[in-house]
Amino acid sequence: MRRVVLAGASGYGRGYLRQLAELERAGRVELAGVCEIAELDAEGRELVGDRPVRADLPALLAETRPDVGIVATPIPTHDRLARAVLDAGAHLLLEKPPVPALAQWQALRKTVRDRGLVCQLGFQSLGSEAVARLAALVRDGELGHLRGIGVRGAWSRTDAYYRRAAWAGRRTLDGQPVVDGALTNPFAHAVATALAVDGSTGVEDVVSCELELWRCRDIEADDTSCLRLRTRHGTVIVVAVTLCAVEEAEPVVVVHGSRGRAELAYTEDLLTVDGVTTRFPRISPLENLLSHLDDPAVPLRSALDDAGAFMRVLEAVRLAPEPARIPGRFVRREGEWVGLPGIEAVLAQAAERLATFRELGAPWAGWLP
Ligand SMILES: NC(=O)c1ccc[n+]([C@@H]2O[C@H](COP(=O)([O-])OP(=O)(O)OC[C@H]3O[C@@H](n4cnc5c(N)ncnc54)[C@H](O)[C@@H]3O)[C@@H](O)[C@H]2O)c1
Repeated sequence: MRRVVLAGASGYGRGYLRQLAELERAGRVELAGVCEIAELDAEGRELVGDRPVRADLPALLAETRPDVGIVATPIPTHDRLARAVLDAGAHLLLEKPPVPALAQWQALRKTVRDRGLVCQLGFQSLGSEAVARLAALVRDGELGHLRGIGVRGAWSRTDAYYRRAAWAGRRTLDGQPVVDGALTNPFAHAVATALAVDGSTGVEDVVSCELELWRCRDIEADDTSCLRLRTRHGTVIVVAVTLCAVEEAEPVVVVHGSRGRAELAYTEDLLTVDGVTTRFPRISPLENLLSHLDDPAVPLRSALDDAGAFMRVLEAVRLAPEPARIPGRFVRREGEWVGLPGIEAVLAQAAERLATFRELGAPWAGWLP
């Protein structure tokens, strides 16, 4: 039975706390303690029970000596807390995006390797059999020659999303990188999944990278963005997303092949190939990590090592000029809600034609000469 410590238990980490309780009932893990700087609510207190709750992760790790540490805290704390887990000799499950700079990722990888430990990332879409199936179809040429991969994603966030934490919507905080933009955080799975489908996960697998970063809100980071990259396989990947949707829809990865077309709704494990839709099972990052630790022949679905191409994209976003403000006349605000009317059609076209917002002539993006 693996002893597990969780850092960050009230935001997204609450899901881990619930999952740990289930895995504990199944006899697979033992929750050794929780690191949290805020007061736990009633559910949190009940799930944690009499296990220690500390604000200081190194102290908690020294006290509990766990086998696995989960880090589900704000992005700017990832590097420090991940290193604390590794320094304590524990395997690591680190939420996505792993760290907010390419050099930090490279250094963290080296530390994991030097210590002989394992690091899994929280890209839960990569645990879906639908992704594995689509990647196999692409790899085996079942869809013919690839014209490209397009992703459209239209979600809506209210002002409360950006108010909930100091790092939300920031490119930097106190001089440190955060890179909390649409492409690198809420739609990080869209980027990582498209790259995985193409079999392009290494740093060198991204040959070129173009970005159009926009924002409707008065925030630092992008909320409406288009990425176009070319992989070493020659595949063009376009990821077009917004957090200012008028009509929300789950994101879809579209694979354009000369012999077939596939659509993957990665949040729902749904894969449609030439019009036939199948739902696939998935394994969570935590369960996959536990299985890998039990039997190293079981591959990690979302290893730190396999985030190289994603980190190339994150680095490009980190170093890109500030997102351009979409003029207010194109944006609708109702109370806490902000929408960009017409954006859904632009995203759909970007994913179909593998074109950018400017090339498509989005009214707020201006025309290319
Ligand atoms: N995989 C996904 O689908 C998914 C979804 C949402 C968020 N996330 C990731 O989860 C992480 C947390 O996101 P969030 O939205 O919950 O952030 P948040 O800021 O809302 O909350 C994080 C939690 O960590 C606690 N915390 C902050 N600093 C801490 C510290 N130094 N030590 C211990 N606890 C600390 C906070 O009190 C809070 O309970 C981020 O990396 C985010 O990108 C992943």
